[in-house]
Amino acid sequence: MIKDSLIKALSDQINAEYYSAYLYLTMSACADRAGYRGIANWLFVQAKEEMAHGVHICQHLLERGAAPSFSEVKAPPASYKSIKEIFEKVLAHEQYVSEKINKIASLAMREDDHATYNFIMWYVNEQVEEESNADDLVAKLTNIGDNSGLLYNLDAQLAARQFIDPFAAAGTAN
Ligand code: FEO
Repeated sequence: MIKDSLIKALSDQINAEYYSAYLYLTMSACADRAGYRGIANWLFVQAKEEMAHGVHICQHLLERGAAPSFSEVKAPPASYKSIKEIFEKVLAHEQYVSEKINKIASLAMREDDHATYNFIMWYVNEQVEEESNADDLVAKLTNIGDNSGLLYNLDAQLAARQFIDPFAAAGTAN
């Protein structure tokens, strides 16, 4: 039995994951239009991961016998001044998401809901990686500065990222 407070918090998190997907999709489109297809690929893969998170949380609520609620996904910003600004915004957004996830973990503890606590811990760990990846890219872009050759090198590296369904492997949180 999952309490209404946690159904609401997890439903809000589904919305936040879909907003994240939408945000990264717009960023991917901006990077693509600016000629950085590799960076666009990295952001596109990121958007797919966020959608997988949203589906995963929805499935968890259904498994717990709860009805998720779905609300409007707000529109993300449509343009960015630079690739560096995009990744600064990615980092800030992931820090915001980490706060939301931590609040769900705290609520699950207060409500004595060990199943939700166990479920959300996968996301607590995931957020460490999400922030670290974004932080690393902001640092790289700071070092790159105005050097367009180095930026194209980074673009080529980020073209290699592939989407791997985080929940396809056995043993992940479910
Ligand atoms: Fe769903 Fe970027 O965390």
